[in-house]
Amino acid sequence: MEPHESTCRICGGRVREFFDFGRQPLSDFFPSPDQVDEEFFFRLAVGMCDACTMVQLLEEVPRDRMFRHDYPYHSSGSQRMREHFADTARSLLAGELSGEDPFCVEIGSNDGVMLDVVRQAGVRHLGVEPSGGVAELSRAKGIQVRTAFFEEATAREIADEHGPADVIYAANTICHIPYLDSVFRGVDALLAKNGVFVFEDPYLGDIVARNTFDQIYDEHFYLFTARSVQTAARRFGFELVDVERLPVHGGEVRYTIARSGARRPTARVGELLAEEALGGLGDRGTLEKFGIRIRRVCDDLIARLRELHDRGFYVVGYGATAKSATVINYARIGPELMPFVHDTTPAKVGCLLPGSHIPIRSADELGPPYPDYAVLFAWNHFEEIRVREKEFTDRGGRWILYVPEFRVV
Ligand code: SAH
Ligand code: TYD
Ligand code: ZN
Repeated sequence: MEPHESTCRICGGRVREFFDFGRQPLSDFFPSPDQVDEEFFFRLAVGMCDACTMVQLLEEVPRDRMFRHDYPYHSSGSQRMREHFADTARSLLAGELSGEDPFCVEIGSNDGVMLDVVRQAGVRHLGVEPSGGVAELSRAKGIQVRTAFFEEATAREIADEHGPADVIYAANTICHIPYLDSVFRGVDALLAKNGVFVFEDPYLGDIVARNTFDQIYDEHFYLFTARSVQTAARRFGFELVDVERLPVHGGEVRYTIARSGARRPTARVGELLAEEALGGLGDRGTLEKFGIRIRRVCDDLIARLRELHDRGFYVVGYGATAKSATVINYARIGPELMPFVHDTTPAKVGCLLPGSHIPIRSADELGPPYPDYAVLFAWNHFEEIRVREKEFTDRGGRWILYVPEFRVV
């Protein structure tokens, strides 16, 4: 195989790289100062399969390194996401879960933000969550959860114990799972005849259109499109029957998958497929141009940060996101340019950002005195954060955004 190629995890076709971020650390491992020797690095490169158009990473990070007992991401950390998942649960309860004794399985249920609403409605449910810490948090709320990776074997066990699932739901998790063949075989074993497999993940169409390249990191193994999801689903005896665009996390799509022939696809599926074809989303040229923009934005960001630093301004970061690992390590932003990154997550405070080792401080310590500028790495929560940190801007502080390009607001 050529150096910048790999074999497609879905169809065995040839994956050709379109961008290489180089050596990158695990994005969700925030080492304490005495853990810096424990960091794991890999080559973060992304390509598209010539045969099935699935966009995927060329190197896979072992799952046990990423999803550990101390996995730091807590879904309930954002008010907006709490509302999003409560709405999602309510709409499932009113629709797919309104039959007799329905059963709902969630893959990657994290701290139970979605399933808690299902539990409160008295509906049978089961979360499948490998990261022990967040699984325990949801168990403490009274949610049923199995600490395991969802794959074929797990799904068969669940089907044996609980019977078929009417809904298998996942948010921001299916794109984390390279072994999608095993997931689809598991869904086949567990899903009721007329059940639905519903999952939502960052959408390649939005990532390219909004230049949100920092959605590319170790955990995001796949960047889906309606076309690549439809092709994958068909390989395993399923059909893409609905798509819904979601505004969260910078733009996602919720895919509804049913057994082949069980449901008629909505018009929205054909519309999104047509839009993707028109926009050239399955073309290498589109992705190569995206790569050029990634380079330009990162070059620009580091140049502007150096300039601000040289002019004596005090610049911090805001949001110790997984996404920030990609931009910070690729643009080579270090503590000399950005002495701190502020974040509200208690478990991250006092630790260091991966790779760059920029220290994480509490959001409560942003000020006063406030910095001159804060680079917003949690750009997907801007509406919520600008309200929370109103005093920063009231006192003259300015936000720096780097997607779709550098701008000060
Ligand atoms: N659904 C939540 C959490 C997303 S983070 C939300 O949208 O906010 C991704 C979660 O998937 C993590 O909690 C991680 O532990 C879990 N995960 C990773 N691989 C998994 C697998 N194979 N099966 C089930 N969960 C998995
Ligand atoms: P998020 O962008 O949701 O995810 P990812 O890590 O997958 O890129 O992470 C949001 C981070 O921002 C999280 O560490 C919490 C932090 N945060 C704040 O510091 N202040 C806030 O007001 C909000 C909403 C989040
Ligand atoms: Zn393929």
